[in-house]
Amino acid sequence: MRYLIGNWKSNKTFEETYQWFDQFSKIYDPVIDLTTVLAVPFPFLQEASKKKHELNLQHFALAAQDISPYPFGAYTGAVSANMLKHQIEYCIVGHSERRQYFAESHLEIANKVELLLTSEITPILCLDQPYAQKQLAAFDQKDLEKLIIAYEPLEAIGTGEPADPKQVAEVVKRIRELIQTDQTPIIYGGSTNADNARTYLEIEGVAGLLPGSSSLNPDVFSRMVHAYT
Ligand code: PGA
Repeated sequence: MRYLIGNWKSNKTFEETYQWFDQFSKIYDPVIDLTTVLAVPFPFLQEASKKKHELNLQHFALAAQDISPYPFGAYTGAVSANMLKHQIEYCIVGHSERRQYFAESHLEIANKVELLLTSEITPILCLDQPYAQKQLAAFDQKDLEKLIIAYEPLEAIGTGEPADPKQVAEVVKRIRELIQTDQTPIIYGGSTNADNARTYLEIEGVAGLLPGSSSLNPDVFSRMVHAYT
């Protein structure tokens, strides 16, 4: 299976969310071996889920962008994995923006992954080279096989300058060696768009893409879907 995982980050209103789905449904052409995933902000998850069913979007799933490192309990403001159990199939964890602006630690991220797996939600674990080994060491082999790993070099995120494909190929290979399994899909994220998508999809071992800004526009996002054909 291949993946296209759009991450809206902290963008859009309710109104814009409805519009996005209405426009996307008119141009979306599902691809058989591709799961298209959209990570929307928490407040829009329920409406996005309704839209997905109402518009009958095939091979399309929803994700959260983050989750609490704690289960149910006295953790004001936190959204725990078991609350979203039947609403989402995937959840991004350890995004560099979370690490940078919210000071997330490897341990918290490992806790998030554990709680997501308990709730049968697939974690999309974001990694960059400097700490990949350390973060991956927090998981046992059986858990590693249940993840999707996103290689997201910091310097390529939101800069309009994607990583050198050769570098992506090398790091993906290195991550594959570290996890010692072929089960886990490894995807690439960082300034991907409809024009460069194919370049990254052609790299050996890359099972998909994680676009941020290119997921905000339904037309660009659907053209990225088309790049998988
Ligand atoms: P970008 O974001 O596509 O806007 O660079 C990628 C990401 O944060 O995963």
